[in-house]
Amino acid sequence: MNLETLFGLKGRTALVTGSSRGIGAAIAEGLAAAGAHVILHGTKTSGAAVVHQRIVENGGTAQELASDLSAPGAGRDLIEQAEAIAPVDILVINASAQINATLPDLKLEDLAFQVAVNFGSTVDMLQTALPLMAARKWGRVVSIGSINQLRPKGIVTAYAATKAAQHNLIQSQARDYAKDNVLLNTLAPGLIDTDRNAHRRDEDPEGWAEYARTLNWMGRAGQSEEMVGAAIFLSSQACSFMTGEAVFLTGGY
Ligand SMILES: NC(=O)c1ccc[n+]([C@@H]2O[C@H](COP(=O)([O-])OP(=O)(O)OC[C@H]3O[C@@H](n4cnc5c(N)ncnc54)[C@H](OP(=O)(O)O)[C@@H]3O)[C@@H](O)[C@H]2O)c1
Repeated sequence: MNLETLFGLKGRTALVTGSSRGIGAAIAEGLAAAGAHVILHGTKTSGAAVVHQRIVENGGTAQELASDLSAPGAGRDLIEQAEAIAPVDILVINASAQINATLPDLKLEDLAFQVAVNFGSTVDMLQTALPLMAARKWGRVVSIGSINQLRPKGIVTAYAATKAAQHNLIQSQARDYAKDNVLLNTLAPGLIDTDRNAHRRDEDPEGWAEYARTLNWMGRAGQSEEMVGAAIFLSSQACSFMTGEAVFLTGGY
């Protein structure tokens, strides 16, 4: 048994969308620590500079790309730009848009935006990346879902539906690409303490603490770093007989 062969990512290149901060940044740093060359991504040029620096300080290597994934064709363009750097062995689909609204309050433009970023760009990226991974006979896709894909709350109606659609796509492509050793799985977090929730936490610290206390069995929000181990597994050779599945990291739900 050689842990390096199972979990080591030396010689692999990983593209992590939305890795300028939050869960994506933690996963990017984790994949780099496991040996992968990481292509960081966010909306702004040099937006991932701090993450890049931390990776280098930790002995890893990284590069940065920037794009707005709401634009038509942006997912395809991002994969093509990453492939020009190195063959993308591992694709972590992490960037997402979340605009909270119950169904009666849902604005069509907000629905369209979330569909474009979360689902449209995922289709785009997979259309471009999967045939290339298949030709090379090795690929791992880790799609970052959400507990809301399975147990949706009304306040995130549209966001939750895009996450369910994203996982459905992962399942259909997992079936189609399994024989090419291109394996696709979803990592679905519960409540994680990131910028996404910062306004809520900062505006009402007590309400936030109470919400977290009652939300899951552990009674707390998760940390981005707690997503890393599962992400490394799903990106590695250790994940050789698992595809089309969802792993939930929720603190018990
Ligand atoms: N936090 C939670 O409680 C939670 C729970 C369940 C699932 N998730 C999922 O976990 C993933 C990461 O969440 P997070 O909380 O870490 O998010 P976050 O802190 O809000 O960070 C979002 C990341 O996505 C990028 N991004 C946002 N919109 C983009 C766009 N239109 N085009 C390209 N990149 C874009 C951001 O880039 P910039 O820095 O340039 O803005 C940033 O790197 C998401 O898929 C989210 O749905 C989160």
